[in-house]
Amino acid sequence: MAILAINGGKPVSPGGIKPNWPIYDKTEKKALIEVLESGRWCNRANPDGKVAQAEKAFAKFVGTKYAKVVSSGTTALELALRSCDISYGDEVIVPAVTFLATASSVITSGAVPIFVDIDPETYQISPDAIEEAITERTRAILPVHYGGYPADMDRIMEIARKHELLVIEDCAEAHGTEWREKSVGTFGNFGCFSFQMAKTLTCGEGGAITYNDGTIDINCFSLSRMPENSNGEATYYLPAGNWRMSEFAGAILLSQLSRLEKQIEARQKNAEYFIQELQKIEGLSSLKKDARITRIGYFFLLSKYNASKWNDIPRDRFIEALKAEGVQCGTAHNDPQYLNPLFQKIKSAYLTVPGADYSTVHCPEAERIYEMEVVAMPNYVLMKKENVDIVLSAIHKLRDNIAELKSNHSQPKITAHPV
Ligand SMILES: Cc1ncc(COP(=O)(O)O)c(C=O)c1O
Repeated sequence: MAILAINGGKPVSPGGIKPNWPIYDKTEKKALIEVLESGRWCNRANPDGKVAQAEKAFAKFVGTKYAKVVSSGTTALELALRSCDISYGDEVIVPAVTFLATASSVITSGAVPIFVDIDPETYQISPDAIEEAITERTRAILPVHYGGYPADMDRIMEIARKHELLVIEDCAEAHGTEWREKSVGTFGNFGCFSFQMAKTLTCGEGGAITYNDGTIDINCFSLSRMPENSNGEATYYLPAGNWRMSEFAGAILLSQLSRLEKQIEARQKNAEYFIQELQKIEGLSSLKKDARITRIGYFFLLSKYNASKWNDIPRDRFIEALKAEGVQCGTAHNDPQYLNPLFQKIKSAYLTVPGADYSTVHCPEAERIYEMEVVAMPNYVLMKKENVDIVLSAIHKLRDNIAELKSNHSQPKITAHPV
């Protein structure tokens, strides 16, 4: 009789781990009613409104002078790129391993994303690959703190200084992550965060840009840049969409911010427990933790699967078996982004720069990890130790029944996102 759920046995967690996310209580309800009754539902010219308060609170949380709250993480990226005048013909270096918006925002800004490989130990953008990709057209580096793990900000800032490049950090997955005790989003010219519902700080949809340069005024309606000794007049304007957040979302964001610190700590504690237990399981390991990382704001819990230690059972079979046991997992973002049809099939005026033919791009490490190595779990698993215990029990069950796991069953198709 089958023991493993994938073969018809009883799952470790019938029905799966409950996401229990997003979390809210009367604080959010009260804040929403306040906005409703105030009659000021828009954040424009509303310096005491919820969005304005959230901006101050988020800048304080991150440790920058300013935070501009916008409608999404994607618009945060595009606004950041455009407010540095990055545009047609410019190249922006992005990692191959990320969510589509990192690279698509470069295209919608009119520039060309140049994909580079990752460091296989950390899954973060490889500083060596960045250096190799720099040309006379390169204007910026757009590192992603993928899964909440930080990119090597020492090397990235050093390269940026050496080549006079801008740095825009994609922090959409990294609220609370610290490199040398400084939050991500404080190192580059801009940090871009997402508050979409799966994120560890959410108001349904939203985003923020963090920055320290007071000469840049991002007003989300038209972009303007002030000279440093400004008399208050913008020197020029750039057209933009309306990317403001409503006061209702701002009310939720502000309320959620008051819970963020505790939630990050809980995830971190449970992740450390998971990583410690994982060391006892052959064929699975965690990402290398650089000593300069002082905190990880986990978005994905990323592990490495080594098929050679699992009787050559393919990673996809392992993931499907774990899912059948009730553990939501996957490969996070399914492919290196340059393989997305958006890049493979694009024939548009945007990509007129030589070298932007994505059919020839090849990042071996990014391709390898998606094909056979990465196993990602959503962050809500980390909200409770009981959830982590379910994951560990399920992994042990697969390990203890490896012969049954290996038996020849048809391969179901993997879905990329674990949530
Ligand atoms: C790395 C990364 N960048 C950008 C974004 C875009 O954020 P949003 O969905 O808020 O537009 C996401 C969202 O999933 C992301 O994971």
